[in-house]
Amino acid sequence: MIFSKKNVIAMVTSSALIISSASVSATTILKLSHNQNRTHPVHKSMTVFAKKVQEYTHGDVKIRIYPNSQLGTQRESMELLQNGALDMAKSNASELESFAPAYGAFNIPYLFHSREHFYKALTSKVGRDILNSSKGKGFIGLTYYDGGARSFYANKAIRSPADLKSMKIRVQPSPTAVQMIKLMGGSPTPLAYGELYTALQQGVVDGAENNPTALTSSRHGEVAKVYSMDEHAMIPDVLVISERSWNKLSADDQKAMRKAAKESMMYHKKLWTKVIKKSMEKAKNSMGVEFVKVKKQPFIDAVKPLHEKALNNPEIAKYVKAIDALAQD
Ligand code: GCU
Repeated sequence: MIFSKKNVIAMVTSSALIISSASVSATTILKLSHNQNRTHPVHKSMTVFAKKVQEYTHGDVKIRIYPNSQLGTQRESMELLQNGALDMAKSNASELESFAPAYGAFNIPYLFHSREHFYKALTSKVGRDILNSSKGKGFIGLTYYDGGARSFYANKAIRSPADLKSMKIRVQPSPTAVQMIKLMGGSPTPLAYGELYTALQQGVVDGAENNPTALTSSRHGEVAKVYSMDEHAMIPDVLVISERSWNKLSADDQKAMRKAAKESMMYHKKLWTKVIKKSMEKAKNSMGVEFVKVKKQPFIDAVKPLHEKALNNPEIAKYVKAIDALAQD
């Protein structure tokens, strides 16, 4: 058969169209929701994750990130994800405690002895076991992102647990966080992160606890001027994916996603160190926040019962023991 030039052009064009429409329909788009804004390091690290996913899956998978709680609070995002209306979310181990109890291990105050101990736990078997613990509940964890050390901030210094007396302290919606504040003598008030600025401004709560990026990236330093560095907890952010979306991916794409997730966690580790330093400088110099060093022992003593209770709780004892053992290595 002899083809005219016109026919060949028509064939090439139409086959190109078929190829391109085939490759368009072969691209899986995964929606990822989170509650920080675009200036926050976790957003930047997940942007790196998204780029790497696209590269490692050769364009098979694209991640579309929705920051700023556009698709709902962390809790709402988890619910959407479990209902199949959302593919991925960045949450926090504190919030996840209500969805998969293993994450409660991270919420035990003063569990980690150092940042090195923290990273050892995140990157070892116990870290992976916790990420996989939610299998069958509609989602699995892919990786962790450093959330630094959490300390109290308010309009007065909190130098000892006694200073928390009759103070309403906002906590993440986590049973362990609620108990921690009670043991320290304060009044816990669980609230979604997005509601906190106004709650501080209007005096609905007297204080909160978080890492220093909350002062700058979420501007809490405008309404809370004293950050007391008791560093009571190191609770990681967690990147999760619905099992429904995960199971639709090919084995190769799953592998690529895991690799991208792991690399973005290490990117975040470096970024975090720089950002925390800058956040503290900005809070101090441009926002007038005072940073107060405190003696940690009275805080440690007040919350000891939480650690003891965790070691007797069959749902988390094995994780807490494994994390404790890593401190001795
Ligand atoms: C951290 C964390 C958020 C979380 C927030 C909170 O900033 O990155 O995921 O929502 O703490 O205290 O609610």
